[in-house]
Amino acid sequence: MTVIKVNKEDLLLRDCAVEELTEYYKALSYKKGRDMTYSVRTYGCQLNESDSEKLCGMLESVGLKESPSDEAADVIVFNTCAIRENAEDRLFGNLGMVKSDRISDKDMIVAVCGCMTMMSSNVAKIQKSFPYVDLVFDPQHLHLFPVYLRDAIRNRKQLVNISAEDYIVDDSLVPISRKRKFRALVPIMYGCNNFCTYCVVPYARGRERSRDLSEIVYELEELASKGYKEVMLLGQNVNSYKSADGKNFLHVLEAAASIKGFSRVRFMSSHPKDISSGIVDMMASSPVIETHLHLPLQSGSDAVLKRMNRPYNRDDFMKTAMYFREKVPNGALSTDIIVGFPGETEEDFIRTLEVVKECAFDSAFTFQYSKRPGTKAASMEDQIPQDIVTDRFQRLLEVQNDLAYRSNLSKVGKTEQILIEGQSSTAPDILTGRTMSNHLVNFTIPDELKDPSKTSDDYEGMLCEVEFTHARPYSVDGKMVKIDD
Ligand code: SAH
Ligand code: SF4
Ligand code: F3S
Repeated sequence: MTVIKVNKEDLLLRDCAVEELTEYYKALSYKKGRDMTYSVRTYGCQLNESDSEKLCGMLESVGLKESPSDEAADVIVFNTCAIRENAEDRLFGNLGMVKSDRISDKDMIVAVCGCMTMMSSNVAKIQKSFPYVDLVFDPQHLHLFPVYLRDAIRNRKQLVNISAEDYIVDDSLVPISRKRKFRALVPIMYGCNNFCTYCVVPYARGRERSRDLSEIVYELEELASKGYKEVMLLGQNVNSYKSADGKNFLHVLEAAASIKGFSRVRFMSSHPKDISSGIVDMMASSPVIETHLHLPLQSGSDAVLKRMNRPYNRDDFMKTAMYFREKVPNGALSTDIIVGFPGETEEDFIRTLEVVKECAFDSAFTFQYSKRPGTKAASMEDQIPQDIVTDRFQRLLEVQNDLAYRSNLSKVGKTEQILIEGQSSTAPDILTGRTMSNHLVNFTIPDELKDPSKTSDDYEGMLCEVEFTHARPYSVDGKMVKIDD
């Protein structure tokens, strides 16, 4: 596999484009008598969130400001996801909604990037049905966005720039506009080699490639010195990390946990084949590594797992899950499950329910199988009728909702440390945050702890102790008992 490191010429090219765009938008801003704005709309997983922070960083580097409204902006970027059909449908619906604005404003730019652009059928659809889209580019070449943007503005006809090269771009080479002032997303590896038969990620994101540990440590130290409290190590299979000089995921985890300043180190997503007892032991003993393990099961049936090309069976999975439960008794285990994979029988589905109950997942992302063009599973016989899929999905949801509620219930009466994420979306005087085990908590501040000079925003990123008073299906209520910092 060839991993392409960003070369100096590319970066010089980008610098020239940034300079040209800065002048262009300055002049446009003067002409229009207002700030020029951008809006980046993100679909999909945290890797896309992380990519979007880079898109925002690059747009800000040419003088654009984030649009205060979601509807209108001078540059709109759709950073897409192809994992399931409904994610794609959502994009096409939203693209249609910017049509009239784009047509009436000849200076506006609409760009589409992300995983959907790696499926040629999507690109063909954009070319045919959405001719007002100015620019389509692939996720591997994200760092060259300013070059494409400049070219799209110069040429004023739809520019499509897609190629499947496996780039590895060090984060320090791209400006990043981080969305959270306390949490930093740090991709440590890109791509996937596993080719699960249902999944588009290996096609969309190329082969696995890992950043050098020294580059990661440099970035982490800088983040800690800027005051970030939480770091999230990201990868499509984060613990498949393997650097060119032989370092593995444990080395990254050890390094991240030893950097002074972080209160929490998280990682996503783990593949069951790569979770070693060493990782779980480190979660158990480290005061900063979060006690939450996301371990996608997909199915509890060995036959289905085999057809999915998942290289573990039910017993392997259970062994790992039980080891985690034993070593990290206060921790939380979450998972992903697909219902209705081709050929899934009622017995297969019952096996999934059994494993779900035995593992007592604290939370789960449950999905109905979505047929993805170009994957092996798309051409498998025995696609499951929708009514059966819906029925199984509902039954799984019922079991899992009950488990999630019980997990929240087990917290009631305890007091734990919370990292405050901000104001709750439902009530202005309630703050929201997460436990070390990633439980979502909404809580009040009693009058004696209230600081009248602080707004809810000022609490974002602070640590405090919260006593849990009441469990809800997807969260826990509580009250603050002490501020830690
Ligand atoms: N790399 C991770 C998962 C990344 S994709 C892992 O393998 O564990 C996130 C989740 O989307 C997957 O775990 C899977 O449950 C779901 N998913 C992927 N492709 C899907 C499809 N075609 N239909 C339904 N769900 C899918
Ligand atoms: Fe997709 Fe499987 Fe890779 Fe996860 S491991 S990203 S499910 S192919
Ligand atoms: Fe979607 Fe791409 Fe992530 S397909 S889930 S955005 S890697």
